[in-house]
Amino acid sequence: MLEQFEKIGKDALASLKKVNHLKALEDFRVKYLARKGQITKMLGQIGQFPAEQRAQAGQLANKIKKEVTEVFEQLKKSLLQAQQEKSREFVDVTLPGIAVNIGKTHVITQTINELLEIFGRMGFAVAYGPEVEDEWHNFIALNIGPEHPARDPFDAFYIDDNTLLRSHTSPVQIRVMEQTKPPIRVVAPGRVYRPDTVDATHMYMFYQLEALVVDEGVSMVDMKTTIDQFIHTFLGPDTKWRFRPSFFPFTEPSAEVDLMLADKTGKESWVEMGGCGMVDPNVFDAVGIDSEKYTGWAFGFGIERLAMRKYGITDIRLLFENDLRFLEQF
Ligand code: PHE
Repeated sequence: MLEQFEKIGKDALASLKKVNHLKALEDFRVKYLARKGQITKMLGQIGQFPAEQRAQAGQLANKIKKEVTEVFEQLKKSLLQAQQEKSREFVDVTLPGIAVNIGKTHVITQTINELLEIFGRMGFAVAYGPEVEDEWHNFIALNIGPEHPARDPFDAFYIDDNTLLRSHTSPVQIRVMEQTKPPIRVVAPGRVYRPDTVDATHMYMFYQLEALVVDEGVSMVDMKTTIDQFIHTFLGPDTKWRFRPSFFPFTEPSAEVDLMLADKTGKESWVEMGGCGMVDPNVFDAVGIDSEKYTGWAFGFGIERLAMRKYGITDIRLLFENDLRFLEQF
């Protein structure tokens, strides 16, 4: 019986030597190490030995099992490793690649870039101002005194008594005139904040493009020509727009610029794009520019409305919801 044990052990080790792939290794396991395998069975036979041989048989059987199992496990490890390396080397060049999601600039940013380019070609420099503004730049220097009724639609988002989120980009006019002597020709894009009720054409935050021209002999004709050329360059030569008389404390005379805009149903109507006018002499006085020598004009247009008109967007809220299905279209 003991010789039989030795033979099983020898056979097992010999056949393990010939195993060179995982399938053969599994066959080996079934034959020797599984529940009904020869080595397992062998261990079950120890009890059949006469008492005085039992210990010796047990030792031998366990020694064989240990030896064979060790070689088996080692072989298994190296075969698995070899298989892994092989699969790693294999590159299926016919598989489609993984598409990379490429981001792009937001439609508002695209619009700002285009606006700056158009005005750049007309000789305008670009100016920026802070979004957190003081009362002087947002109101006082723009001829809007503390009690002026024109403050009403602008008066919001205070940080302290003297500081607020700017309600328009016109304070950039003041900042530019405080720092630069005429001739001045700048545009200033940026975010503004207002206590507006949100609907299809209003937001509490939106973008404006401010323009300011100051020089000797500048007239309303220059302003109208520039606006007309801008609108026809940006929106196409057939675009309908109009001046509508208006009032701003910092311009005299003042006008609003309306654009023809279609709603969801395709119905067209005039929509206000922004205000404009000749710089009020009080504004020049506030910044120390000689209002006898210089004249100027300014406008502030809503950038969303320009983009909406250009791309046929009927709801301003779409621009700020960050829905990729919308944004990817531009
Ligand atoms: N700041 C004004 C507004 O936001 C627009 C404007 C700008 C009017 C420049 C005249 C001149 O309504």
